[in-house]
Amino acid sequence: MVTRPIPEAGLNILETHCDLIINQRKAPLRYPELMNKVKGVNAILCFLNDKIDKQIMDAAGPSLKVISTFSTGYEHIDVSEAKRRRINVCYTGDILTETTADLAIGLMLSLGRRLVEADKYLRKGKWKYGWNPDLMIGSDLHHKTLGVIGLGKIGSAISRRAIGFGMKILFTKRNFVLNDFRKNKAFYKLEYCNLQRLVKDSDYIVISCTLNKDSYHLIDYEKIKMMKKNTYIINISRGKIIKEPDLIRGLKEGLIAGAGLDVFEDEPIRSNNPLIKMQNVVLLPHIGSASIDTRNKMSEIAASNIIYVLKGRQGLCKVKT
Ligand code: DGY
Repeated sequence: MVTRPIPEAGLNILETHCDLIINQRKAPLRYPELMNKVKGVNAILCFLNDKIDKQIMDAAGPSLKVISTFSTGYEHIDVSEAKRRRINVCYTGDILTETTADLAIGLMLSLGRRLVEADKYLRKGKWKYGWNPDLMIGSDLHHKTLGVIGLGKIGSAISRRAIGFGMKILFTKRNFVLNDFRKNKAFYKLEYCNLQRLVKDSDYIVISCTLNKDSYHLIDYEKIKMMKKNTYIINISRGKIIKEPDLIRGLKEGLIAGAGLDVFEDEPIRSNNPLIKMQNVVLLPHIGSASIDTRNKMSEIAASNIIYVLKGRQGLCKVKT
């Protein structure tokens, strides 16, 4: 059961080996529809929007051997329930790391150099006097401080790029081991610090940690109040790491300069969300991994995971339980 159309690269793999039920609509299946469609299947290829819980596993029945998500995150799958039933849970691993890091830099540049705002300004016919000494004055990246919350794979990829821009980098990391870090030459320009210092001293803050009970609403009004007025917050991870009403309040009160968000507490964002009317934000529809190459690779991995498991092997990228 493939819950939404996937790029051909993966589809071809599945078609060669399986009988397929595919939801051809762009919209995700509603929960009761999903429950209905999974009856008796051996594998489910799902997406972030599909809640795969005990009831869905019950509906699929004992034939279900593998759940493969077309994503790196797998918080929509009840992994412990799957483990109890000996169902393999697979994901697309780290394949999207570099693509997502590119987007984070894109958001930093869009905010700092006001790219989206300037484009809108020009298209609205507001550009009247040619070159203008005080038009769309923004903030540099070079020589500014970037705070990376969560120096995992994506956080490291963002840092490498930021070093190229001449930025100074502060970071936080769970289970940080200084000695391991020192051995890694790639990181010699980075400085570890606690979250308080990071939020106080950074000009750009990128959230690249995973969502878990410790990171839920990690950025709230208190933290925003500690930030500098010229700080931009970028979130390419999960919306729930920022307490969105607090961010909106902080932006309205001018506590920070702006926000670049690829993820939101509720996706899709509602049309009455105050962020939509704000000037100092850049809002993207969760496109961190959306490059042709990466989506093709994600499709191949998500499909191969299924074939590997159904042939009695381990999935290429298996969630560790
Ligand atoms: C993921 O894979 O978890 C991203 O958020 C979407 O590509």
